Amino acid sequence: MLLYGAGGHAGVVAGIARDCGKIIKALFDDDLQKIAVAGTPVTGSYNTELFVNEPIVIAIGNNRIRRRISGQITHCFVSLIHPSALIDKTVTIGTGTVIVHGSIIQANSRIGNHVIVNTGATIDHDCEIADYVHIAPGAVLCGKVCIGESSLIGAGSCIAPNLVIGKNCIIGAGSIVTVNIPDSAVVRGNSSRVIRLNA
Ligand SMILES: CC(C)(COP(=O)(O)OP(=O)(O)OC[C@H]1O[C@@H](n2cnc3c(N)ncnc32)[C@H](O)[C@@H]1OP(=O)(O)O)[C@@H](O)C(=O)NCCC(=O)NCCS
Repeated sequence: MLLYGAGGHAGVVAGIARDCGKIIKALFDDDLQKIAVAGTPVTGSYNTELFVNEPIVIAIGNNRIRRRISGQITHCFVSLIHPSALIDKTVTIGTGTVIVHGSIIQANSRIGNHVIVNTGATIDHDCEIADYVHIAPGAVLCGKVCIGESSLIGAGSCIAPNLVIGKNCIIGAGSIVTVNIPDSAVVRGNSSRVIRLNA
């Protein structure tokens, strides 16, 4: 298979590929200063004519860049799922998506194309994750949460049940989200408030 991207996230994706028994035949990056990822040398800029029958994954964490590059690629996309991820049989996963070590995806959730479900993230039942979303390490999505295209759900954040997060949002690391979030919003902090005292 092929990888596009030679930054930090690419090292994670290369590890997943290795643990899935895949061999990386070429590694593309437009930054010619980058030399190698996990022992695999960088081939150079993306080249449509190399390994035309090999599938590719865009191993770039930034949602906007991943989205832009996906429109320039002619190789077919493939998804990578680390063997340690726990994914219910009813879950659907799009193409080009990467499911990282230890993540959990529960019943009837739908995961789009070019999504990252990063280390140890939890997506509970009936969630809908649109294309180019990044669910960062340790984030928790409760049941029936919808995440709009290209949004970043920050590391260790928690999205309460039944909420809708718009497109192109950034949910800051450690946020507790208890209300719907409009498109393009940047959110941080713990918005929870005391609603009653525990007896
Ligand atoms: C929320 C976020 C988008 C804010 O970024 P920013 O606008 O550049 O904010 P700054 O770093 O300039 O910080 C501004 C203030 O917000 C605070 N802050 C930043 N991130 C915060 C967060 N997640 N929660 C609470 N406060 C935060 C800073 O401490 C700073 O406070 P101060 O004004 O009192 O000094 C960013 O910090 C963040 O959490 N991004 C998500 C990171 C992530 O999980 N990435 C996944 C990688 S795999």
